Amino acid sequence: MKVRIGFIGCGGIAGAHMERLAKLEDVEFVCMCDIEKEKAEKSAQRYGGKVYTDFEKMLNEIKMDVCYICVPPFAHKGQEELCIEKGIHFFVEKPVHLDMKKAEDIAEKVKAKGIITGVGYVLRYFDIIEEARDIITKEQIAFVRGRYYGGVPGEGKNRWLITKAMSGGQLIEQATHIVNMMQYLLGEVEEIFGWKIEGINNKIYPDYDVEDASCLLLKFKDGYIGNLTCTWLWSGFNSGVEVVGKGIIVDYQGNTLTVDKGNKKVIITSSIDPMLEEDKTFIKAVAAGDPSRVKSDYIDAVKTLAVTIKAHESMEKGIPIKI
Ligand SMILES: NC(=O)c1ccc[n+]([C@@H]2O[C@H](COP(=O)([O-])OP(=O)(O)OC[C@H]3O[C@@H](n4cnc5c(N)ncnc54)[C@H](O)[C@@H]3O)[C@@H](O)[C@H]2O)c1
Repeated sequence: MKVRIGFIGCGGIAGAHMERLAKLEDVEFVCMCDIEKEKAEKSAQRYGGKVYTDFEKMLNEIKMDVCYICVPPFAHKGQEELCIEKGIHFFVEKPVHLDMKKAEDIAEKVKAKGIITGVGYVLRYFDIIEEARDIITKEQIAFVRGRYYGGVPGEGKNRWLITKAMSGGQLIEQATHIVNMMQYLLGEVEEIFGWKIEGINNKIYPDYDVEDASCLLLKFKDGYIGNLTCTWLWSGFNSGVEVVGKGIIVDYQGNTLTVDKGNKKVIITSSIDPMLEEDKTFIKAVAAGDPSRVKSDYIDAVKTLAVTIKAHESMEKGIPIKI
């Protein structure tokens, strides 16, 4: 039996998921929704499905097994709640919300109703990340160092990304991938302290009101310590995570894992498409009614959102915050 899929949001990342899902057997695109009708029409022409501009109408009219929710952070306005009410499993892009309370409510409802969820923390689907986890569990680890350096996305043209009310800023919207990866490698965060720099990019890009750079200190429940530095002041892209322990540095960047033991360095490169793995895993989970292989579900993603939101609270108050 085919897994029937609908989309809410037919922008950039939705297109990337559609392209991968179309490669899978036993899937059928049944509906496409975007508030910009042409985008939904374009997706439907290419992959099939009925076109909508109103997600409530679509979820009320069309029977589907899975809904992909690919809207910007500010635009989560009840899509998840309605999917849950209708018993529709959903995949949602990170960050799952900007409102912590609403995200927690959704997580509770997901649990209560047994909805299968997936969240777009795509880096977890690299095979080398499982290798990193295997190595880390066997070593005496002390700390983690994360970084997320880039330029202002789209040179500031995508307004929602550079305004706090719409994206939450770089840490909540993008460096969230690195926070989520740190949690996958070292477990949950217990306490956080953060600082930020502002006032540089806003002189160049009208409407820019988010941080230019941030620096966090993290304490993990299992005793590890860590830091994360992020900026949109650079012009290239460099992000990664380095886990350091007794006689070992495990460094992950892009599609490469470097295991450095001082006298011996091993470099492992991945050739898989992590987003294809992510989509395949989610569709299989729904088809089999077994969510166990999904690497980041809604409940997991809410923990990442909590760290990034509490980090901002720390930046505002100038004190460490318990998660
Ligand atoms: N996992 C990843 O690596 C990754 C990469 C890129 C983007 N994303 C995430 O995906 C989300 C979307 O990003 P994007 O780059 O696709 O943005 P985008 O601006 O390209 O697309 C978003 C689309 O959602 C539509 N939309 C907004 N409100 C809607 C509503 N109420 N109903 C239906 N459609 C609506 C917009 O019209 C737009 O077409 C963001 O949260 C972003 O962080 C994740």
